[in-house]
Amino acid sequence: MPLVTTEKMFKDAYEGGYAIGAFNVNNMEIVQGITEAAFEEKAPLILQVSAGARKYAKHAYLIKLAEAALEDTDLPIALHLDHGPDFETCKSCIDGGFTSVMIDGSAVPFDENIAITKKVVEYAHAKGVVVEGELGQLAGVEDDVSVEHHSYTDPDQVQEFVEKTGVDSLAIAIGTSHGAYKFKPGQKPQLRFDILEEITKRLPGFPIVLHGASSVIPEMVEKINKYGGAMPDAIGIPEEMLRQAAKSAVCKINIDSDLRLAMTATIREHFALHPSDFDPRQYLKPARAAIKDMVKRKIVNVLGCAGKA
Ligand code: G3H
Ligand code: 13P
Ligand code: ZN
Repeated sequence: MPLVTTEKMFKDAYEGGYAIGAFNVNNMEIVQGITEAAFEEKAPLILQVSAGARKYAKHAYLIKLAEAALEDTDLPIALHLDHGPDFETCKSCIDGGFTSVMIDGSAVPFDENIAITKKVVEYAHAKGVVVEGELGQLAGVEDDVSVEHHSYTDPDQVQEFVEKTGVDSLAIAIGTSHGAYKFKPGQKPQLRFDILEEITKRLPGFPIVLHGASSVIPEMVEKINKYGGAMPDAIGIPEEMLRQAAKSAVCKINIDSDLRLAMTATIREHFALHPSDFDPRQYLKPARAAIKDMVKRKIVNVLGCAGKA
């Protein structure tokens, strides 16, 4: 099976009351860990690549890694550009074999966001590629951009945005944020399910995307801190809230930080226990296994997409 778009995945997820995991990839071990988990859980999969990851690993290598994941599993896998910063990057991914792109116009005024998103949609759809747009802005750190406060998505804008742009899915801001510090110490984690409900009323049947949806699992942070790291106050979105979101119109849940934390915790532990190791396979093997465990945990505890491939 070739790489697929997210069209059928989202339709099935919407109707079935579950969500698809979109996991960020940067290298071979990450792709392998994610793919092995999805294969064992028989879960549809979105591998996503940020502009920074594409610069780091190079487009050609990432395409081949996604193709290898397909060859190894025959799962439905979509290859998605995460946070496409401009038309040129989206075009380059569309021309270069991605099946889905995000154009992130969330930082520009509404009319400009519509214009840039529409331009990408027209180009993508002509080539059979689907597009994710974004309305509202998440707090947190993503690439080099740091946003202090959430700008929650305005439900009154979503219908016009979707109609005028023709996007296939919409990322919204309801209180999730990028990175490992999603809430201040002492602050009660909460998501604006009321906004999600209003958006769903205005866009019945339309797939919604949640970014910044890592849970920052305490065991991972504890391990990092135990073995020389310094991540005090790292707090994520409780899994129960994400599970609730996955049952709603949210069809795609983005996870990157939890994979980074799992990998880093494992490598830190490895070197603490085996300080004389210097063969990368010795520490990347357990790191890959930790990625796999984390993705399985997401599929089972949060997404509900096991057995849906
Ligand atoms: O939302 C952003 C993702 O976590 C990717 O992060 O741009 O540092 O690769 P990155
Ligand atoms: P996290 O930082 O919460 O993993 O979010 C990742 C993300 O939204 C990628 O687009
Ligand atoms: Zn994101």
